[in-house]
Amino acid sequence: MSDDPYGDRGNKDASITNPKGGSTAHPVKKGGKATASPGGPFLIGDTMTGGYGKGPDILHDCTVSVDPGEIAVIVGPNGAGKSTAMKAIFGMLDVRQGHVRLDGEDITALSPQDRVAKGMGFVPQTSNIFTSLTVEENLEMGAFIRRDDFSGTMAQVYDLFPILKEKRNQAAGELSGGQRQQVAVGRALMTQPKVLMLDEPTAGVSPIVMDELFDRIIEVARTGIPILMVEQNARQALEIADKGYVLVQGRNAYTGTGKELLADPEVRKSFLGG
Ligand SMILES: Nc1ncnc2c1ncn2[C@@H]1O[C@H](COP(=O)(O)OP(=O)(O)OP(=O)(O)O)[C@@H](O)[C@H]1O
Ligand SMILES: [Mg+2]
Repeated sequence: MSDDPYGDRGNKDASITNPKGGSTAHPVKKGGKATASPGGPFLIGDTMTGGYGKGPDILHDCTVSVDPGEIAVIVGPNGAGKSTAMKAIFGMLDVRQGHVRLDGEDITALSPQDRVAKGMGFVPQTSNIFTSLTVEENLEMGAFIRRDDFSGTMAQVYDLFPILKEKRNQAAGELSGGQRQQVAVGRALMTQPKVLMLDEPTAGVSPIVMDELFDRIIEVARTGIPILMVEQNARQALEIADKGYVLVQGRNAYTGTGKELLADPEVRKSFLGG
């Protein structure tokens, strides 16, 4: 094993590059927006402007997207609007301008529940599990929209997160922070999403647990589920990112491959601690 646990991930891993073949690499651009690949990205929040209720705009022309085989990472300071962008894409706040498209379809007007039915899985930053329910009940809740037999999916989740199988009859609230995040991701996987959105999946966990969670997220991406995630651990997240976005005050500040952003002096200085 090399020192870098993720090897050359960040666009050279043939098993995770865009199967459509279109290049997803964009030079680091100040204020850059992701360029659509032919046919458009699989999931895109396109030039989104909006805020909460009748409040001021939080997002300003904000664009984020993800394609099959990719991990796209959103980083930026606290309060930059990262969670707001995720919620906008999931339909939890009104987008006053701009659009959300999934697999070419404009879903801007759909409710979150309808977006789940269309194939979106979302793990919010907070309150992402039912603490009083058991691990298994949490997974069953995740499958709420399914009418078919979901036991196979549950077995897959337990394969991905063996600790959850061990603790399946325990209340989720009794688990460690890292284990809870596994429950939250597992719950989202129960709908067999076509795309997975994760808001700070490694919040509050130790560096070792963070590495383990990132490994699992890479595994999920390798099964073909594109992943759009917000991360506080910017450097580590960009190491596994095919594409990265730096958001500042609700705007795209920098866009590039994970590698490009990690190498950009301005991004390093302002957002990665030098
Ligand atoms: N439910 C809400 N109602 C009104 N304003 C909100 C709400 N949630 C967030 N905001 C405001 O939107 C702005 C962006 O917040 P957001 O949670 O999107 O930031 P973030 O980038 O996810 O930050 P963090 O890194 O701390 O999670 C902040 O000014 C915040 O006060
Ligand atoms: Mg947030």
